Amino acid sequence: MNCERAEHAVYNHRVTRGVLKESMFSLILYQPEIPPNTGNIIRLCANTGTKLHLIEPLGFDLDEPRLKRAGLDYREFVNVEVHSSLDECLAKSAPRKVFALSTHGVTTYSAPDFAAGDAFLFGPETRGLPVEILESLPAEQRLRIPMRQESRSLNLSNAAAVVIYEAWRQQDFAGGG
Ligand SMILES: C[S@@+](CC[C@H](N)C(=O)[O-])C[C@H]1O[C@@H](n2cnc3c(N)ncnc32)[C@H](O)[C@@H]1O
Repeated sequence: MNCERAEHAVYNHRVTRGVLKESMFSLILYQPEIPPNTGNIIRLCANTGTKLHLIEPLGFDLDEPRLKRAGLDYREFVNVEVHSSLDECLAKSAPRKVFALSTHGVTTYSAPDFAAGDAFLFGPETRGLPVEILESLPAEQRLRIPMRQESRSLNLSNAAAVVIYEAWRQQDFAGGG
């Protein structure tokens, strides 16, 4: 069995009657700053069965009212984990591949073949990802979402939605309906 088929078999094993037992993908927010963005992403992750990792320092408390105002309830927080560093997060979650999202990315976000176990790393709203993190990844894992030439960047939660839905689409929205 080749690597790709083996991964698919493992993934199928985790899906029972259309209900995902484990997260297919992970989303990592590196030092997020703005509560409503993280609130939207918590909901996005709950709706797509994605595990969410938050890397400290956070620009807010997780029980902050502006997060709650996104209409979240306690069930949506079940799949959220906070880490003191990116290294700790990666050591603990052991993703198959990490893809970093950046306006300086060199590969169009829809080009790679994503697979169960992949993680998507996003930068803080005002700074983006540090150069040393971006440069630690090969060019094919530094992704960019196309924009008009005069544009600076997408909103963090919109960028997260675009990428997670592309990755899930590639898996035929397995576990969804
Ligand atoms: C508001 S943006 C940060 C802007 C920052 N000046 C930069 O250029 O990275 C927050 C995060 O959303 C993601 N993002 C926003 N627009 C993007 C795009 N066009 N392509 C890839 N990632 C994007 C990146 O992860 C980015 O770090």
